[in-house]
Amino acid sequence: MATADVHINYVHAQWSSRWVFVLAATGSAVGLGNIWKFPYMVGQGGGGAFVLVYLVCIALVGIPIMMAEVLLGRRARRSPVNTMRVLALDEGAGAGWQFVGWLGMATGFLILSFYSVVAGWTLAYVFRTASGVFATQDPQQIKALFGVFVTDPAKVLIWHTLFMVTTTVIVARGVQAGLEKAVRFMMPVLLILLLALVFYAMGSSGFGQGIEFLFSTDFSRLTPGVILGAMGQAFFSLSLGMGAILIYGSYLPQSASIAGSTFMIIAADTAVALLAGLAIFPIVFANGLEPAAGPPLIFEILPIAFGQMPGGGFWGTLFFVLLVFAAWTSAISLIEPAVAWLTETRGFRRMVSAVLTGGLAWLLGLLTIMSFSHWAFSFRFLGLEKTNGFFDIFDILTTNITLPVGGILIAVFAGWKMQRPHLQDELRLASRAGFEVWLFLTRFVAPVMVGLLLLYLLFGHYFDA
Ligand code: PHE
Repeated sequence: MATADVHINYVHAQWSSRWVFVLAATGSAVGLGNIWKFPYMVGQGGGGAFVLVYLVCIALVGIPIMMAEVLLGRRARRSPVNTMRVLALDEGAGAGWQFVGWLGMATGFLILSFYSVVAGWTLAYVFRTASGVFATQDPQQIKALFGVFVTDPAKVLIWHTLFMVTTTVIVARGVQAGLEKAVRFMMPVLLILLLALVFYAMGSSGFGQGIEFLFSTDFSRLTPGVILGAMGQAFFSLSLGMGAILIYGSYLPQSASIAGSTFMIIAADTAVALLAGLAIFPIVFANGLEPAAGPPLIFEILPIAFGQMPGGGFWGTLFFVLLVFAAWTSAISLIEPAVAWLTETRGFRRMVSAVLTGGLAWLLGLLTIMSFSHWAFSFRFLGLEKTNGFFDIFDILTTNITLPVGGILIAVFAGWKMQRPHLQDELRLASRAGFEVWLFLTRFVAPVMVGLLLLYLLFGHYFDA
């Protein structure tokens, strides 16, 4: 019998406090998406127009869906697949809803496969920056160094492997064992370093141009591809639509406030993305470089800044170390849904589940590695030129399609399938109006906005002249 008490009795690991949840979810949200992906997407998407759409999506879609994900997870206290199954039964909806969990797990594998490769580049750059090589080279040489590195699959493979092995070990040991402590310390330091970089960028001759690029909205650049990209980036950056936030919510103590936690996580994530933009674009313009450089952007730009500033070898090394930590805390949330599901339903030990999932993502990652060298091929997607074959396909498939689809389904389930008292019971918002606003956003605004964008993606070419 599926009643509310059945799943509440289910004993499941829990964060030691609400703060640990906020920290872990912020760790999941803040990552390469903010510091690597956001700047290059802004650079390719025409600056301010992209930023504006991104911020609107965060507010109207990101906030309600994050609250919905946490709510679902905490109510069922299971992996995403089983959460959807149990809640669907409980609410009298079809068992087919567990598809949301399956889609999320598949998405997690795909994202982790390329995420780990880029995190591997970051690891390599820890050592490069420490070696002091950037202090002796001019901007064009620094740019060329990255080109030589990514086109050498054997080298990249080593770093990708190192990152995936460490991620697997962390996941296998469980989140509490030390990662919590590390994150508590690392996140504030990363923020301070980012602020220092912004400060440095303010002194560069490109600052005015950088600000202009980030914040002045040229609406003629708002093409369908840019709008869809910005919406997808909102999902990617907030870790929404695949069950990462849901599974973290499933470890949240019953007494914690969902709305308050969500606001903090979203504020931190948005601040880090904007600061990364503020740090990077002035340096791009001051050195006469191309904002639309794509995925290599930060690996070409930041070393220039570190090469020129006093003590740059030290600060640069620290920066890349912290970025690796930010990537770890995101990567673990990408496979936690699959690890939890395997442990829960197959009875595997966490170690076995972690090795199986990490291994599969590692294997898929080989396709991304090859996309930057031997197997590179290009195609056009909604007017944007994509040159890195499988990497771009995985990225578009997840960021632009499966995350938003997952997000819509989560919003529809929470908004339309769950009984109002159950929602109120989990959210326990102090103001009734607040609850109504959330419900309205979850039922109508988020699904319709995201749905229309996706439909445009599929059928938009029929409207084009
Ligand atoms: N939000 C993470 C980042 O910005 C990436 C991520 C996406 C993590 C989806 C979990 C789920 O780097």
